[in-house]
Amino acid sequence: MRLCEARQQAEHLPPNSFDESHRVDIVGKVVSRRDHAQVTFIKIQSHEEGDDPDATVQLLILKKTAPPALVALLPILHPEFIGRWTGHLGRSKTGEISLQPTAPPELLRSPTDPAYLAKVLELTAQANITPVQAADMMDCALEDIIRLLEMPLESPARRRELVIVSHLMQGLPARGLIRARIQKLGLHDRMLLERAQRAAAGYPVRLLPGGGETVDFGAVDPLLNLPEQSGDRVNYIDSKKRPQIAWMLGQLKDLLASLPPTPPPHLFDIGGGRGDLALVIATSLPQLAMTVVDTNEPSLAAGRARAVQLGLGNIEFVSGSLADPPVQQSILGCARPVMVGLHACGGLSDLILDTAARAGASVLLCTCCFASHPDLLDGCLHQEPWGSADTGDCPPNPEVGAALGTQGPDPAGSPIPFSRAEWARLGQLAEMADHPEEAHRAMGALNALRLARFGRCLARRGPAGRTMAACEILAFPLEYSPRNLVLRVAVR
Ligand SMILES: C[S@@+](CC[C@H](N)C(=O)[O-])C[C@H]1O[C@@H](n2cnc3c(N)ncnc32)[C@H](O)[C@@H]1O
Repeated sequence: MRLCEARQQAEHLPPNSFDESHRVDIVGKVVSRRDHAQVTFIKIQSHEEGDDPDATVQLLILKKTAPPALVALLPILHPEFIGRWTGHLGRSKTGEISLQPTAPPELLRSPTDPAYLAKVLELTAQANITPVQAADMMDCALEDIIRLLEMPLESPARRRELVIVSHLMQGLPARGLIRARIQKLGLHDRMLLERAQRAAAGYPVRLLPGGGETVDFGAVDPLLNLPEQSGDRVNYIDSKKRPQIAWMLGQLKDLLASLPPTPPPHLFDIGGGRGDLALVIATSLPQLAMTVVDTNEPSLAAGRARAVQLGLGNIEFVSGSLADPPVQQSILGCARPVMVGLHACGGLSDLILDTAARAGASVLLCTCCFASHPDLLDGCLHQEPWGSADTGDCPPNPEVGAALGTQGPDPAGSPIPFSRAEWARLGQLAEMADHPEEAHRAMGALNALRLARFGRCLARRGPAGRTMAACEILAFPLEYSPRNLVLRVAVR
């Protein structure tokens, strides 16, 4: 779970309580720490692509009750340590959003200071950390860890090597025997990426300027949806969220203007959370009905309460997954559905497009976190194959070609030969921070393939008579976000 979502979930719990009914896991970096006799407070900051980078949560480690394997790791849980933390969300006595870990963290990265690297080795020698985990945390090879463990503790040679490891971890030049380990991008990945880019050639990414739509946020300011308005949150809403919402609203108005006036559109905001975008839309377009769908009940409850406060009668908040049959039916049974999504993570974007194509819906979708929710791909698989690798020939959809001014998504006019596993792998490649150029290419190619698949699915499974009038991949202005592409599809 992303840390900003965890915060949203915990915001509605009373102070001094933890929700022990379910566990969450969060990738976070330690930013500060306070030690008391019985308890250690550790502040962690989000470390997940696409998350609010300033969002923080406090870990509460009660030494008496915390798992001993977690307490054993306390010597290395210092600023810069990155881990995947599992536990119960809640709020401290003072109301601070907190996580009570129920297990030791998954060890992702050690602080780079050589003194802490020495502590990692010490914990490895004591069997609190395995050598493989130590290698992962210190970005070096397993043989290096074994060699370091065999060196005498206080030897100058070991100290020297730890300085080299520290330099390599920080990306600084270092001469020595240790090899740096980076995320692996194999030959197979490069070939996949090339093929995907070739197939995606008909779908260029268009970078649009910002500032087109001026929105008077007033009573629907997303800041008012937050119970706790800390400096970090205010900054995120000022610099990113409000501009993104205004930009999406402008795009939505253009999209709606291109659709026939009847039957009137019904908007579905999928993964709409607290309704940051939906409440603005419902206020700006009062003549339209709107449904927000999300799996996160506390966020929906907050959105519902805001809608009542604002006296909005054209918006409802529905709890459930888009994969749930009743949710699917409500969209498939709608005369003119229009589906929107802001930051629809990974497989959720695929399922939105799959559902939209079957329902003949137009779409405005801000994609993100490409490797998340791969399970939701299964919901799509039953409806339409990913490509000829699964099912044999699949002719390109002429409407897609017409809309793009090309002969179809693949210049050669051949089927798109991608399997589900390759599709999921492209999502992972799009998230490879160590290979930013390839990640950027994968992000564009995957979104292009999504549009191509939408075209095929609409033609084969969509309601009779519905065609794709236009489809585009748009990029937010870079200052709003370099990691999100927006798909805009008009179905008439
Ligand atoms: C990154 S958040 C974006 C929230 C909101 N659109 C915004 O921009 O503030 C993604 C949302 O998708 C929701 N979600 C995840 N899986 C879902 C599913 N299968 N069906 C509906 N919503 C889902 C999550 O609960 C979360 O609220």
